[in-house]
Amino acid sequence: MKNKILITGGAGFIGSHVVRRFVTNYPHYEIVNLDKLTYAGNLANLKDIEDRPNYRFIKADITDPIEINELFLKEEFDAVIHLAAESHVDRSITDPTAFVMTNVIGTVNLLNAAKECWKGSYAGRRFYHVSTDEVYGSLGETGLFTESTVYDPHSPYSASKASSDHFVRAYHDTYGLDSVISNCSNNYGSHHFPEKLIPLAINNIKNNKPVPIYGKGENVRDWLWVEDHARAIDVIFHQAKSGETYNIGGHNEWKNIDLIKLLCSIMDLKLGRGSGDSEKLITYVKDRAGHDLRYAIDSTKLQENLNWVPSLQFEEGLAKTVDWYLENEEWLNDVTTGQYQNYYAGQYITLD
Ligand code: NAD
Ligand code: TYD
Repeated sequence: MKNKILITGGAGFIGSHVVRRFVTNYPHYEIVNLDKLTYAGNLANLKDIEDRPNYRFIKADITDPIEINELFLKEEFDAVIHLAAESHVDRSITDPTAFVMTNVIGTVNLLNAAKECWKGSYAGRRFYHVSTDEVYGSLGETGLFTESTVYDPHSPYSASKASSDHFVRAYHDTYGLDSVISNCSNNYGSHHFPEKLIPLAINNIKNNKPVPIYGKGENVRDWLWVEDHARAIDVIFHQAKSGETYNIGGHNEWKNIDLIKLLCSIMDLKLGRGSGDSEKLITYVKDRAGHDLRYAIDSTKLQENLNWVPSLQFEEGLAKTVDWYLENEEWLNDVTTGQYQNYYAGQYITLD
């Protein structure tokens, strides 16, 4: 059952943790990692497992239907765990079409290929779509996203992910495709590309550069350690019923400004700086357009049905994450040279 698994986006942040977990924990599975290797994809993320006999990498673009169909017919995958995506909200504001192409068209290409290849015979086959809590839109001061919260995306990124979720459900309802979807809150941990808040702040604090905070830093996110997300994906992949959706979250809400202050205090200790030194780097910048105020997940269904709970306290996870970035300077330098500099230069407008 489900022995040959295609994982898309496996060279990215979360995908690399999922690939590592499956390759390590299931030596009898054949894991094929398909990734286009965009700016966010990095095979160095998988150096430690790249020689395992049950792992293979294929460079391919999910927006190319011919390439994807041929691959499915040739390889006859038993299951797909789909993570490949354009994933950064700020980039989606600058170039929404790229998000439609990869997140919507790319997902539909994979669904078509799976449908054609499996021809309605779904025993032991599964299409797992990895999605985000951002499809639900923004919460006010109270409340939590549940699996029945109505979709209300605001950014081009979340609109593209919402659309892809709808297509996965449509293929389940129309063609009977065995599918599951999970919607997870913000992840943090090792191998996270430093365009996102936590790794960007770690990199800037380390280099004594300003740490940009959008608006007043009042926006709230619910942070989950990436390895807890990978474990949730494992559990849902193996145990959820076809057609089900699961929310995944850390019960760990932080205002951006409070999170960055905590990070600054951890880094003061790790870098041997005086208490309060790194906080001086905090710089308020022009707010993100359409910035969602608050995300928070109710993951009761996952906890009660599949017995999953987050394993790490945030302070511990954040300290582990800082250690990883400080110990992996070469990784950080490699991904922050070249194009990253151009992206960064165009991204932030400091407030007076
Ligand atoms: P990421 O940007 O780090 O990685 C995305 C990967 O997809 C990269 O390796 C990239 O090369 C690959 N990719 C992009 N376009 C492709 C294409 N056209 N064809 C093939 N590969 C392509 O993203 P991430 O943060 O690891 O997110 C992975 C998935 O999890 C996404 O679907 C995202 O929506 C979802 N998600 C992310 C978070 C989070 O906090 N990062 C939270 C919930 C859900
Ligand atoms: P991000 O890591 O981009 O994740 P998402 O937008 O998917 O939640 O941003 C997390 C929060 O941090 C979000 O409220 C935007 C904010 N933010 C900043 O204040 N400064 C930054 O430089 C970035 C990248 C994000």
